[in-house]
Amino acid sequence: MNRPTDIIRLLLLSLLVGVLSISHGAMADEDPAPADPSLLPVFEQFGGKQGLDELMEVFMIKLVEDSRTIEYFAEADQKHVKAMLSEQFCVILGGPCTYTGKSMREAHEKLTINQATFNALVEALQLAMDERNIPFRAQNKLLAKLAPMHREIVTEP
Ligand code: HEM
Repeated sequence: MNRPTDIIRLLLLSLLVGVLSISHGAMADEDPAPADPSLLPVFEQFGGKQGLDELMEVFMIKLVEDSRTIEYFAEADQKHVKAMLSEQFCVILGGPCTYTGKSMREAHEKLTINQATFNALVEALQLAMDERNIPFRAQNKLLAKLAPMHREIVTEP
């Protein structure tokens, strides 16, 4: 048995343990866990204004793919509707935007929309939000704000 070597090993080992515990402590202070997206403000969970613009692209594709809604959007100025929806959702979600479009009553009064058609549009939006990986609770916050709008939009029994 080589005693001096054992003592040097012991010293090195305790030094290593000390360094590891200090660095671990520092890491714990700085960044305990990866950021949880569901803790971000709801507007950020949608990816900000850019994320909303991208969501509208997917949303419009869903709307024209659905036989219940295509007739409404086929003849519409889709680019304009997407831009207005993005502004409107930005405002609803607390983002730094101004809505420059028409009121919901004015935009839809000539379109003869019933509750089933309204629900079809909400389903298309849910599919789009899923595809964009928007957290479930953030989706629900937006949907809860849209639901009362049926009073201005649905005009048919
Ligand atoms: C919560 C539900 C809805 C919201 C938030 C919404 C929002 C909007 C917005 C912001 C615009 C643009 C207004 C403007 O031109 O200034 C618009 C237009 C339009 N919406 Fe909706 N909408 C909803 C439901 C629906 C439904 C259920 C339909 C039919 C399926 C529909 C069909 C249309 C069409 C066709 C236009 C374009 C009208 C035109 O060409 O003037 N919307 N909507």
